[in-house]
Amino acid sequence: MIIGSILLVIIVIFTFYSYRVGELKSLGYSDKAAKSIIFKFKYSYVMDIGENKTLNAAFESSDYDADNLDNYAKIDYEEQEHLISNINTLIDKGYSNNEISLIVSKGDDKAVSEFAKRDKVKYIEEFLSISYAKLANYDRYVAYQEQENDDAETTVLYVNMDFDKEEYVDPLVIDDFDDLVLVNKHRQLSSNYVPDDLVTIDKEYVKADGEIQIERSVAKAFYDMAEAASKDGMELMVSSGYRSYEDQEEITNTYLELYGQNYVDNYVAKPGFSEHQTAMSLDVASKSVNTFVESDEYGWMMDNAYKYGFILRYPKSKEDITGYKCEAWHYRYVGKDIAEYIHDNNITYDEYYVMFLDK
Ligand code: DAL
Ligand code: ZN
Repeated sequence: MIIGSILLVIIVIFTFYSYRVGELKSLGYSDKAAKSIIFKFKYSYVMDIGENKTLNAAFESSDYDADNLDNYAKIDYEEQEHLISNINTLIDKGYSNNEISLIVSKGDDKAVSEFAKRDKVKYIEEFLSISYAKLANYDRYVAYQEQENDDAETTVLYVNMDFDKEEYVDPLVIDDFDDLVLVNKHRQLSSNYVPDDLVTIDKEYVKADGEIQIERSVAKAFYDMAEAASKDGMELMVSSGYRSYEDQEEITNTYLELYGQNYVDNYVAKPGFSEHQTAMSLDVASKSVNTFVESDEYGWMMDNAYKYGFILRYPKSKEDITGYKCEAWHYRYVGKDIAEYIHDNNITYDEYYVMFLDK
């Protein structure tokens, strides 16, 4: 009889426990977190809050601290190995829940762990609430703003574009190439980088000695564009496309001899720093007029290139941003959506990349 009653109690408790674990799991909590929630007597608290990934991580973690429970519930989740221990440290340092959410969302596990070791700093919300801010650049934002007095958004944008560094000094070496890669005076391709899908541009479109190669998708977009242009009486051609590292070396040396260092700094990328090595950009030409800016094709391209996925990469009004004097002929293929955004918002690819593509 007594044994029967004990057994019954055990069965009731176990059923009740299993039911609660099931309820928590249906809210997205893991088995481990659900059991920990029940053993820590936080079932009602968690049920009131509902689904919450940071709480789930906290209850799964050996770093769980009951004093920080309310904070965990209000801090945005990031998939990071030391998330809960870093949150604990940042709470101890006196950061608000919102500041902690920003800190963990703007850095990876390593950057956040390093940052958590520091004494508390100011201006977290000012800089890190900008969507493309990076925790790793925090000190540079502070230093740049002190020097330039720009607003926080400009500061973050410019520092992310490496404007606080000298051109060609300490560049980022690009190791994961894709078609949307950004190459400029701060971002370098390795000397042996060769695009893998090069095609030769049809002879009828080539205004240069010899063959011109370009990435397949760019060639296709150019043909579409040239065909549309021809319906408007324009004769678009290409005078340069893919250039290997060695080609760019040769071009740099030739222009250096012909026109000197100042010209090269303004118009010619150093080897490894040329967008032409990506095979995603081309220099357009008019069949009949040699000076492109004097041709009708120039005006047509300014009005229409974006519709075919091309952007004028080095515009007159953006010389301070691109680091090059205006090149009326140099177009970069970025696809129709991005080209339209850049055209409509009158920004450069350098800015677009930092705002939307840089991870
Ligand atoms: N003329 C452009 C900037 C280049 O050399 O890639
Ligand atoms: Zn060019």
